[in-house]
Order: sequence, then C-alpha cells, then structure tokens
Amino acid sequence: MNAPDKLPASPEPHVMSTYGRLPMALAYGRGCWLWDTEGRKYLDGLAGIAVNTLGHAHPKLVPALRDQIGKLIHSSNYYLVPLQEQLAARLCELSGLTNVFFCNSGLEANEAALKIARKYGHDRGVAEPAIIVMEKAFHGRSLATLSATGSRKVQAGFEPLVSGFVRVPLNDLEAVRQVAEHNKNVVAVLIEPIQGEGGINVSRLEYLRGLKEICERKEWLFISDEVQCGVGRTGKWFVYQHAGFLPDVVPIAKGLAGGVPVGACVIGGRAKGVFKPGNHGSTFGGNPLACAAALATLDIIEEERLMDNAVRTGDYIRTELTRQIGGLKGVRQIRGQGLMIGIELDYPCGELVQQALDRGMLINVTVDNVIRLLPPLVFRIEEAGLLLATLVPLVRQFLDRQGAPQAAAQSA
Ligand SMILES: Cc1ncc(COP(=O)(O)O)c(C=O)c1O
Repeated sequence: MNAPDKLPASPEPHVMSTYGRLPMALAYGRGCWLWDTEGRKYLDGLAGIAVNTLGHAHPKLVPALRDQIGKLIHSSNYYLVPLQEQLAARLCELSGLTNVFFCNSGLEANEAALKIARKYGHDRGVAEPAIIVMEKAFHGRSLATLSATGSRKVQAGFEPLVSGFVRVPLNDLEAVRQVAEHNKNVVAVLIEPIQGEGGINVSRLEYLRGLKEICERKEWLFISDEVQCGVGRTGKWFVYQHAGFLPDVVPIAKGLAGGVPVGACVIGGRAKGVFKPGNHGSTFGGNPLACAAALATLDIIEEERLMDNAVRTGDYIRTELTRQIGGLKGVRQIRGQGLMIGIELDYPCGELVQQALDRGMLINVTVDNVIRLLPPLVFRIEEAGLLLATLVPLVRQFLDRQGAPQAAAQSA
C-alpha cells in the first residue's frame, strides 16, 4: 500500500500544474491544528478554503463516516437513496426552501442553478435567457461557471465564453434597474452575497432586499451562491437569512459535509418544478457517504452551537484586527462577517502566505492584496488569540517593508 503521507523522493510532476502550490504536504489534523509530513504544526486559518467546518478528525464526524463506509459508500441514483431524502429534508428545513438536487462540488451546484435559470426562461418563452451576474464574483471553473465569474484571469484562454450573462457591479441597485429596463431576456440574478475569491466583499442587506424586490417584480429567479459563505460560517445557516427573505435557488458545497466532497442545489419559490426527470443528473451526486457526512456535520454545527461561535470568534478577530492594525497606513479595510474575514492592503501581499506558513499558520491571500481568513467553525477565542499573535506582527513587518511610514511608528 502507498504511504499516504510521504512525498515521493524526487517528485515527478505527473499531477498537472494547475495550482501554484506551497512546498509542504499536510499529513493529519486534530481540531484547528494540522501537522505536515515533516512533523511541523500549523494553526488552520483557512479550513481547506471554507471546507473543514468542524476542523480535523472531529470525534463525532469520524465515527459517523466510519459507520457509513462500513455499510455503503455509493449505490446509484437509479435507486432510492434514503440518506438523500433525509439530507434534503434537513436542508429544506434549514433553508426554508422545498427541494434539493445533489452533486459533488460548488461549480456543479452552480451549473445546476444556471441550467434551472435557462430552463425557467425557456418555459416562459424566453428563447435566449440571460442571467445578471456580479463583477468580482467567483462561481467555478466549468465553462458556464467561469463565464459567470467576474474575473478575466479565470476566463482568459477559455473563450468563447458561454453567452447569456450580463455583468453589473456589486451593491449597485441602479445598475440592476437599468438592465431590468432594457433587457427583456433576463430571467435570473446570480449573486454571492459575500464574495469569497473576489476579496470578501459583503453585500449590503438593503441591497440584497432591493435585488429581491426587483426579482419579485420582474419574476426573475434570485440565485444566492452560498458555496463559500453558507452553512453557518456567518452566524446563520445562509447569508440571505440575515436579509430576511427567501431566494429561489441556493447552490451550496464546501463546508456542508465537513470535508467530504458534496454539492447541493437547494430550490424553492419560482424554481420549483422547473427540472423534470431527465433534465439533470450526476453519478456520484448524493451518494450515501456524502449524505451521511453532511447530516452529521449539520447535527454537530447545531449541537455545538458553532454558528454562535462563528459570530463570537469572528467578531473578536475583526475587532482586534481593527484595533491593532486598522489604523495603519497601508491597511485599506478590515471586513467580513462571522468567520469569513478579509484584510485589504494597499499592496500585493501574496508573500504573507509563505511567511505565515513559516510561523506555523495557514492563511490565504486572494485578489493579490486581500488576506483571507476562513478558519473552521470550531475556532475558539483561544485559537483566535494565537492567530492574531502571529498575523498582526506579520502584517506590521510587511507594511514596514513597503515603506508605509505610520506603520513603523504605530508598531513601536
Ligand atoms: C462562491 C463560490 N462558488 C463556487 C465555487 C466553486 O466551487 P468548487 O471549487 O467546489 O467547484 C467556489 C469555490 O471557491 C466559490 O467560492
């Protein structure tokens, strides 16, 4: 059997180099901590990009997975899958929506959403349905989802893009009103209520409500891509719940099954009944292992009151960051909600990822100049304190090196 946690002595690049990887491999984890193959220990400020909701090797998730693996990993969507029914019922209860399509990833959940939007349009006699999408949004890397994504970097080289997307700036209701007035083909709006890859850009609640109002008036679908921000990370199961309305379609994935690949497109309202038998499918989607993992993850989030913890710990981190570095020259903004936090700097700061790693901490930098923190929801104040004790000096030293003069003065 291959040793799972050893790198080959001279690694041949047989894995396609689609990622810029750090020269380190993780071997195992416990709670908010990870160890690499050399035995070095790291505090997890990233949770596998918002995936490891419960941290690592959670003592209730591990036996739940073991139990399911011993029974059935995969059956087939040719048969009834009772765990799918259970998970769908749970997701509907938590979301306020009515039905679920299961898949395996975020882009697949969005792909289902986009197909629902187009089908919804066709069912209403719109031959070329269009979907409003946001600047700086990220929805995935399939051809349709990268076309919906608001990043030239993601799209470049993959043209021709899938057509039928109209792009507007986030938090600009007037731009949506203009499109509503002039484009009769629009059938849906797709929005990440908090943009993750785009730099932790938070939609204002009045904006979301205004958008929903336009959707109601125009009979458009409201699609809330909660792949990164959903499943408890902001203190509610879903971000739209902060705004107090129901969308029609909610693609989710990442944190739903505590690290086991899963995706779900949760629907209700106008999206109900749009997909008919034969319209969509996925071999692995909703397999018993993923469903058992998701059910256990949701139970544990509830039992351990991890959404409250996300608010408490997230507020603490943001407050402390604001107090300790918020006034420094070179720090543009500290923002986010719950355990989804961004620190925007005036300078490209990708080097901080390796520097944090060298100091035993996993963080991320997105859009070149935004430090992104997405710790597991089990991250407590104690771990937050450790994170701040490493991150704050790192940011100060970085700003000093950029020659931001007040930074040096204030760090004294
Ligand atoms: C908001 C959002 N949507 C969709 C995706 C795509 O998810 P996946 O990488 O699982 O395909 C991501 C991934 O980062 C995301 O953040």
